[in-house]
Amino acid sequence: MKLLKSVSLFVIASLLLGSCKSNSEKNEETASVETSSLASEKGLKDYYADYFPIGVAVSPRSLEGESAELIRAEFNSLTAENVMKMGVIHPEMDRFNWGPADAIANFAKENNLKLRGHNLVWHQQAGPWIFTTEDGKTVGKEELYQRMKAHIDSVVGRYKGTIYAWDVVNEAISDKPDEFLRKSEWLDIAGEEFIMKAFEYAHEADPDAKLYYNDYNAIIPEKRDRIYKLLKMLIDNDVPIDGVGIQGHWSIFSPTETELREAMDLYASLGLDIQITELDVSLYQWEKERRELRQGESDEFTPELEAQQKEKYDMFFRVFRDYKDQLTGVTFWNVSDRYSWLDHYPVEGRKNYPLLFDEDYKRKSAYDAVAHFEDTNETEKQ
Ligand code: G3I
Repeated sequence: MKLLKSVSLFVIASLLLGSCKSNSEKNEETASVETSSLASEKGLKDYYADYFPIGVAVSPRSLEGESAELIRAEFNSLTAENVMKMGVIHPEMDRFNWGPADAIANFAKENNLKLRGHNLVWHQQAGPWIFTTEDGKTVGKEELYQRMKAHIDSVVGRYKGTIYAWDVVNEAISDKPDEFLRKSEWLDIAGEEFIMKAFEYAHEADPDAKLYYNDYNAIIPEKRDRIYKLLKMLIDNDVPIDGVGIQGHWSIFSPTETELREAMDLYASLGLDIQITELDVSLYQWEKERRELRQGESDEFTPELEAQQKEKYDMFFRVFRDYKDQLTGVTFWNVSDRYSWLDHYPVEGRKNYPLLFDEDYKRKSAYDAVAHFEDTNETEKQ
């Protein structure tokens, strides 16, 4: 095992060294950071080897060049950011678009990375065909279930043995505090039972896969309690669910440590595994509705913001480590600040810097806070 680790470190080091040598025009600053990364040898996945896998959401394009090297060096789990969503992978009833998803699955296999599946049933990016008959009418409930089952059988079946965990149902809870489930075509046509059916079909398609319910704002007490209600309902009905995915689209403003711990305790009390499935720490307050950039609104990543972000990341991972018995994975949503979905949402063109690597793939100060912690395992052993 030790030998394997040394060999893989050597391979990673050679790759990084290779890229340094071949790109002589890189400026001194970049080169020195790459050297310091090399010297430290370990990546996030190594620092957290005794805790939980560290994942990242990717597109097929991010599996090339420097980005691929960074992924191999730092992460041991992948999620497809978009290409396994129904609208992309199954755009028409009789047509699948396997290429991009296969590229991610193959990269995971070749590099011995875990792979999460995202996602099977969601109100967004569903293939429009699933809700409509050939003559343009809305399908009935039974027909919808047949189509849902066919979709789940095909996609889960194809990656059986490669994908170890699926986000089966994504974001079914309403954004409105006085409403339980979100209004959607799934709900309109099939009623709340659609959630249970999705889990049952996924379990039939791959009995070994871990099945998750995944949602955002899962720490905010009032939404947390509605998510809890749904999870409890699923468990009480013997639905095959293994875990809850807390997305983790957070910010330098929230959540607080108390809110985070209370939510972890509540979800853990259900006996479910927990994963942080889509972590990023925005520089801005959470806003749901899209809007234009305001005049004078700055998107500069100032040293003050960097310090606040570091502090928040430090706290989040301290809490995560405390829950390592329940937490079976932490996944970042995108690789580095070079590209984040938050550059486009909620304000198109407002740059965000929510990740641990900067636009040149260099480790940010928040990285140090996450990676360099006192290992309580080691302390306990002494
Ligand atoms: O690929 C097309 C491209 O061909 C086209 O030219 C372009 C024009 O708009 O759109 C491209 O597709 C975009 C796609 O991302 C790939 O970049 C879609 O418009 C855009 O809506 C889509 O956004 C994704 C969003 O989910 C909606 O599906 C984000 O990348 C992705 O990060 C985001 O991920 C979600 C999780 O699945 C669930 N939780 C929240 C999270 C963030 O919103």
